[in-house]
Amino acid sequence: MVGAPVLIFDPRPKTKRSDLFDREEELSRFEESISRRDPLILLLGLRRTGKTSLLLTGLNELKVNYLLVDLRVLEEKLQITRRDIAFLLEKAVVDFLRRTSFKERITKYLEKIEGLRIAGFEVKVDWRTKPYYFISDLFHALNSWAEDTGEYVVVAFDEAQELARAYRVGFDRILSYVYDYLRNISIVLTGSKIGLLYRFLRIGDPEAPLYGRARLEVKLDYFNREMSLEFLRKGFEEQGIAVSENTLEKVVDVLNGVPGWLALYGYYAVRYSVSNDVLERVLREASAVALNELKHFLELRYQARSRYLTILKYLASVEYAVWSEIKRYLESREGVAIDDKTFSRLLKNLVDTGFVEKSSKGYRIADPALKYSLREIVS
Ligand SMILES: Nc1ncnc2c1ncn2[C@@H]1O[C@H](COP(=O)(O)OP(=O)(O)O)[C@@H](O)[C@H]1O
Ligand SMILES: [Mg+2]
Repeated sequence: MVGAPVLIFDPRPKTKRSDLFDREEELSRFEESISRRDPLILLLGLRRTGKTSLLLTGLNELKVNYLLVDLRVLEEKLQITRRDIAFLLEKAVVDFLRRTSFKERITKYLEKIEGLRIAGFEVKVDWRTKPYYFISDLFHALNSWAEDTGEYVVVAFDEAQELARAYRVGFDRILSYVYDYLRNISIVLTGSKIGLLYRFLRIGDPEAPLYGRARLEVKLDYFNREMSLEFLRKGFEEQGIAVSENTLEKVVDVLNGVPGWLALYGYYAVRYSVSNDVLERVLREASAVALNELKHFLELRYQARSRYLTILKYLASVEYAVWSEIKRYLESREGVAIDDKTFSRLLKNLVDTGFVEKSSKGYRIADPALKYSLREIVS
């Protein structure tokens, strides 16, 4: 089908308020925080709840100067080096210089950074000079420019928990330095593995660099049932396509309130047809994505791989399960007793990475696509 551009159902992250469904309150809180120049802002929510969309929409609406560092590409890497981060910062700077109207002025500050070469829109870190302090130097240069010109810069790290694997870089130290001394920079961290992000920041640990620093948090949840239906209604209405309530109910039954999966369904339904086949296709595609993310998680935790899978597959077969039920199941599968601490650690890792959700009813797999794919795999 050709026709109107897909807006609410566009499968890319949104960048405009008019394409963003709901999230009024979260967006206002985020924008107010940026306008107040809060030094540290956390944008939290499971995968595909719309963090990147909210981030981009807010930054664009306020027309602030910003660098966006997309850390998703590091998800598969066991260890992250200074060089990996520098490479992503290079990209973020190039992108910023292309957008900003202050390119000439900023370039003058950036040129003073040791080991950084700038030519036109080319920005390259020269590793022959071993620019050990490149990351902090970059923040310094941006802050100096901002201070001298009465400007202000937001540096956003998308999926910031990945920085936890930059062992040798000491990123928490760099962040606390920016927090304390670089007054014209705000840091935004988004995270879908919320527990991991907290662990990385060690906000409650008196020994940690970021201890005691105030932060603002904006949390995005899945849509509830009514909002999910409304999301679909609005998206189809935008395209002038009539869809029965029955059909919408069925889609929400299968995809729950995951904004990203609902958007993907809408996108395909508009492109092809509103049919069971399309729903089936979306579920399969979504499952492949979810399973791939799980694979990355397991690759980094090779030793406990089969235990994690046993736990997850069990949770995929039930609605909810409590701690002792899961433990008993794992023990019966292995035929050995597992001590409480070991088991708790396994379960906590699954919660901290967002694969499993903990609530008053017990533990469950919140993402229907992950649940589906776990039921499909055999080993
Ligand atoms: N509130 C929303 N309104 C419209 N589309 C949304 C909304 N939230 C998420 N989406 C869509 O869901 C998908 C995932 O969103 P994204 O911002 O990438 O999520 P996250 O960064 O949390 O993984 C994208 O296609 C995006 O357009
Ligand atoms: Mg994102």
